[in-house]
Amino acid sequence: MKIYYGGHSSFMIEKDGYSVLIDPFILSSDMESIKPDAICVTHGHGDHTGMAEDISKKHGAPIIAVFELANLFSRSGCKTIDGHIGGSVSLPFGRVSFVPALHGSSFHTGENAGNPCGFIIDIGGTKVYHAGDTGLFSDMSLIRELYNPDIFLCPIGDKYTMGVRAAVKAVDFVRPKAVIPMHYNTFPAINASPEEFKAGVDALNIGAETVILSPGGMFEY
Ligand code: NI
Ligand code: MN
Repeated sequence: MKIYYGGHSSFMIEKDGYSVLIDPFILSSDMESIKPDAICVTHGHGDHTGMAEDISKKHGAPIIAVFELANLFSRSGCKTIDGHIGGSVSLPFGRVSFVPALHGSSFHTGENAGNPCGFIIDIGGTKVYHAGDTGLFSDMSLIRELYNPDIFLCPIGDKYTMGVRAAVKAVDFVRPKAVIPMHYNTFPAINASPEEFKAGVDALNIGAETVILSPGGMFEY
């Protein structure tokens, strides 16, 4: 699996000839050149919806989101696949599951966009947990038990999400093979040290590798 990082919480994961975009706020050139099979959007805030609408319309790729947010996207003519927290949807490439996130969610119109979520994206048996924007919650250990994700995309920027200390605890709950920090250093209010996060994860001694990606970077798993 190849995991491309655009910056902020924006990723594209690619495996078996399929590609899935997540929270496409900032795209790297690699991400721009590929037609996604689906676009997962964790919640309605602008730094996560990003270019989802434009990319969906351009490529006919469905936006996967909770029911309320999917309705807001479909109103503007986007193809959507809805679901809700606790559920999963099957797609040609695998399975996408909706998991909880502790945050808010409103659309750029000011309308409420339902509950925010995280996603477990399973492509050919490799599972990525994108936590969305969230505070720490102990049911992340249930996410581990139910889905056993290989790769954890974890916010560390504080203020709107977990900061470094809570994020390290989240890694302890999720126990992934690899963790990629996100949602930090995009603007000064969410400045955080990924090195400090990595040191905290290393100290857990659970065999989780911290992969620090710069915007435009890629990790092959
Ligand atoms: Ni948000
Ligand atoms: Mn955000």
